[in-house]
Amino acid sequence: MSISEEMYLHYHGLIVPKETHSYESLEFAQGFKFEDDDVLAVTYPKSGTIWMQEILPLVLNGGDLTPIHTIPNWERVPWLEEKQLARVVDKLASPRALVSHFPYNLMPPSFCTSKAKVIYVMRNPKDIMVSSYYFHQMAGFLEDPGTFDEFMDKFLEGKVMFGKWTDHMKSWRNSELGDRIMYITYEEMAQVKHFQSEHCSFKSMQNNNMSNFSLIPKVYMDSDKSPFLRKVSIAGDWKNHFSSEQLTRFTSVISKELEGESFSLPWSL
Ligand code: A3P
Repeated sequence: MSISEEMYLHYHGLIVPKETHSYESLEFAQGFKFEDDDVLAVTYPKSGTIWMQEILPLVLNGGDLTPIHTIPNWERVPWLEEKQLARVVDKLASPRALVSHFPYNLMPPSFCTSKAKVIYVMRNPKDIMVSSYYFHQMAGFLEDPGTFDEFMDKFLEGKVMFGKWTDHMKSWRNSELGDRIMYITYEEMAQVKHFQSEHCSFKSMQNNNMSNFSLIPKVYMDSDKSPFLRKVSIAGDWKNHFSSEQLTRFTSVISKELEGESFSLPWSL
């Protein structure tokens, strides 16, 4: 199965969309100078990135609502690897918050020598795949996903942006960053009341134009096809999509690729 060379860029083995990334933006990330008090939320796409873009400014600014009500999420807590970072980097107030989909091996040298902290957000890969399937339908800068079954093959083969979920997990779970890294799951965030506070709840983010991508032209993100904040019944939507054959296929590929790893998964596959 191949991927669209027109839509995607290859960078050190990683597949990224050209609309949001360029060779320059990826190199800019490599040269980025991390500060010791930076906080970085790392996710495989569709694991809760924009949720972190809402939570982090609230936590770092003592609950001040101004950033989340006045600055679009991609400028407020920018992606390390995306094009807009170079444009907004000088406007970021300290302590800075960023997000990234990079695997650990692509983190810039200054990250490794700094004391910057990381929050690695994990989500059940079956729900990630469902979320990603709908995202591919609404995002004009991503390949059409085809049928759900075809998309499952692509996802399992890593022929999607940021490659295989298992590779991403392995890279960060084995990163040995000690107390510089905190692991949390999307499912835990959905259960803990604090993360569902009035200002970072699904509902309020859905109504916040600075967070729901409604500022993006429809040709890039069409919420009529599928809203970015898709479903409030957040954990376990895969049960509404997977056939039993698909579940067996998915589980066997993922389990095989994680065989022998010392970390365990927070969900049963
Ligand atoms: P669904 O497509 O399952 O609805 P990312 O930001 O990494 O692309 O992840 C997007 C997913 O996170 C979407 O999942 C979106 O609805 C969900 N999400 C974002 N904010 C959320 C919140 N406050 N509560 C629950 N889920 C949220």
